[in-house]
Amino acid sequence: MNKDVRQTLIKRAMAARERAYAPYSKYHVGAALLAVGGKIYDGVNVENASYPVGICAERNALSTAITESERKFEAIVVATGNGGSPCGMCRQMLSEFGLDLNVLMVDQDGNVVHEDSLRELLPLAFVPDDLQ
Ligand code: THU
Repeated sequence: MNKDVRQTLIKRAMAARERAYAPYSKYHVGAALLAVGGKIYDGVNVENASYPVGICAERNALSTAITESERKFEAIVVATGNGGSPCGMCRQMLSEFGLDLNVLMVDQDGNVVHEDSLRELLPLAFVPDDLQ
């Protein structure tokens, strides 16, 4: 991912975050997922009055990308107020499509507070091969 793409991805995640629906936690999250072909898919967290029904920004972005027939991904930026880390459920869902995914966590000012591969973030991941 070159510098320009990286900056675009960060901006997309931050812009998406503005559209988060998080009236209960007030923790707004935006995600921007970069597919190998170069397209970017946004996601936001969508909460619900029945709390467990809510979904995270990362899984929303991934679902949208998968719906568009994407299967290979290069990077995801997760934008929060404090540079928070993607939850375990999102890490697991992303792991289905490869552990080399680059994961960037950015805060409200666009600072990258952490960057790592999904392989590092989800050690001993349960992956499709485990079902063989
Ligand atoms: N959230 C995400 O969107 N992504 C994560 O990886 C962590 C948590 C959302 C879920 C909920 O709407 C809010 O943040 C507080 O947990």
